[in-house]
Amino acid sequence: MTDTIIMFVHLMAAVVAAGGSVFVLVLFWPRVYDPKSSDSLDEHSVPYKLIELLAPTVFVSLLVLIGSGVYYMMENYTEQVNLKEGYYNILGIKLIFVAGAFLLSLYQTFGLRAQIAHLDLRPENRALVRPTLEKMKYLGGITLGAIVFATFMGVYLTRF
Ligand code: HEM
Repeated sequence: MTDTIIMFVHLMAAVVAAGGSVFVLVLFWPRVYDPKSSDSLDEHSVPYKLIELLAPTVFVSLLVLIGSGVYYMMENYTEQVNLKEGYYNILGIKLIFVAGAFLLSLYQTFGLRAQIAHLDLRPENRALVRPTLEKMKYLGGITLGAIVFATFMGVYLTRF
């Protein structure tokens, strides 16, 4: 029962991270962001709000994924002697992508997002909004790719 709950949490976090990113970056972004326009964007614009919300959502989902993944392994450590050879190779590859997604998400949430936060207090940063949002969109796409690959490796692991 405990395993089922941990894997449910693990899967839900993957759904939120990947689903949220696809919704914002693939479906919504092209409809609300005009790359050719040179108008400055403020903190009330839709692209700003979308990316501002997405970055911490993905970050927290990744924290939950890492926590639940490690907890699952700790709960099942006695069964690990029966695992097929090669299980840890796949897990290792998966973890490289998880680490990449985590570091990118960390940078977006605490580096880039912080750069364009509190614009009323730091109006000189208004000029940074458009390039920063574009960078976050680009890095968000790479993060999404890493999460999707980690999801594939997770499903592969379960059936290995
Ligand atoms: C981007 C982060 C991650 C994603 C998207 C992800 C995704 C998944 C998915 C989709 C599954 C398959 C669940 C199922 O089919 O029931 C899975 C299983 C699993 N994941 Fe993750 N995961 C991530 C991070 C981690 C981390 C950091 C660990 C910790 C070491 C971990 C350990 C595991 C384990 C042990 C399983 C079960 C494998 C088995 O049944 O033998 N995952 N993961």
